[in-house]
Amino acid sequence: MKLIDLIKKRQSDRTYIDKPVEEDKIKRCLEAARLAPSASNSQPWTFVVVDEAGLKEKVANKTFGPLKSFNKFAPQAAVIVAIVMEKPKLISEVGGRIKKKDYPLIDIGIAAEHFCLQAAEEGLGTCMLGWFDEKAIKQLIGVPKNKNIPLLITIGYTPEGHRTRQKIRKEFDKVVKYNSYN
Ligand SMILES: Cc1cc2nc3c(=O)[nH]c(=O)nc-3n(C[C@H](O)[C@H](O)[C@H](O)COP(=O)(O)O)c2cc1C
Repeated sequence: MKLIDLIKKRQSDRTYIDKPVEEDKIKRCLEAARLAPSASNSQPWTFVVVDEAGLKEKVANKTFGPLKSFNKFAPQAAVIVAIVMEKPKLISEVGGRIKKKDYPLIDIGIAAEHFCLQAAEEGLGTCMLGWFDEKAIKQLIGVPKNKNIPLLITIGYTPEGHRTRQKIRKEFDKVVKYNSYN
């Protein structure tokens, strides 16, 4: 598939069917994430694959918004991957402080998208989750208190006939400027 078509195919899927996801497919998604670029090649991440049914359910139950207003689909996912932020290389940390940029967070965003694009290529649905009870999930999967989980990714098969949605995005000319911001 052409990259632009894969990019269009990747979408936040919030309905999954009860079908296990093959381990090798998840492995290829993880490999795509592992190969992502990062500031100073710090690779400030650990990917925790939560695929044990009981544990996955507990993690999913800690992603809901108030009154289950969102993320109530999470328990349907076959697998949830937690991206744990690791300490970056000193050069990235110092550079980030000087330049006031959160390089590890940028790095993790890129790795997450690599993961989701590969998942789309594998015919899997994904959704990145930024809303969840981080403290509770850290405890559930054994992440030390001093580390953070910026993102979770839900993964699963979507129902047959599940359609690719038209992307809702700002107009090209609204977000692209040539040579001057104004
Ligand atoms: C950092 C980040 C956090 C997100 N958190 C959530 C979330 O907690 N729950 C959810 O349903 N979608 C979440 N999303 C998905 C976005 O809502 C979605 O990417 C956006 O609406 C564009 O739609 P698309 O992914 O289908 O193209 C998140 C996406 C990103 C990048």
